Amino acid sequence: MSTTFVNSETRLNLMRAFAGESQARNRYTFAAGLAQRQGLHVLEQVFTFTANQEQAHAKVFYDQLQEFSGQTIRVDGTYPVDLFPDVLEQLRAAVHNEFQEYEHDYARFAAKAEEEGFPIVSHLFRQIGSVEKEHGERFSTLAQLMEQEALFVSQKQERWMCLNCGHIVEGTAAPAVCPVCRKPQGWFTRTSLLLPPQS
Ligand SMILES: [Fe+2]
Ligand SMILES: [Fe+2]
Repeated sequence: MSTTFVNSETRLNLMRAFAGESQARNRYTFAAGLAQRQGLHVLEQVFTFTANQEQAHAKVFYDQLQEFSGQTIRVDGTYPVDLFPDVLEQLRAAVHNEFQEYEHDYARFAAKAEEEGFPIVSHLFRQIGSVEKEHGERFSTLAQLMEQEALFVSQKQERWMCLNCGHIVEGTAAPAVCPVCRKPQGWFTRTSLLLPPQS
């Protein structure tokens, strides 16, 4: 079945996705501020770069609505209120929201776009859905490390990088202070967290 874009559910889903991505960007920016105030700079940086990626997703979806420029599009939707004062709870909420997007919202939007005859939009929903899965997995790993109080210690040898100056220290724990730039431990991350696991 093929539908005209102006009458499609897909144009509404693009606007829903734009709203969702825009809110995710703001939620992660707020969470980055919270992590910064608690000295958890590694989490501040992950929330910040993820916020920027959500903004990039928002632009990809928004740009698909070019032909409606100057008009308004009315949509309904449900959006989370994640006003948790705790960074760990912010991470858990982020895991939930990312998997909700990947497994439910964008999978459904992709199928609908396919059904309505918009394969390019369908492909975008699937590609960005895969990014949300990566986001969810990264946030989940960080939440687990926090729960185990293992954000800065490890059972095995790791390479720890100072996110301020890039200095790398090997060992089972991040140093209390960076020997090069003197930033505290909260600036260190396992280098294995910087890239997705290679399969
Ligand atoms: Fe996104
Ligand atoms: Fe995401």
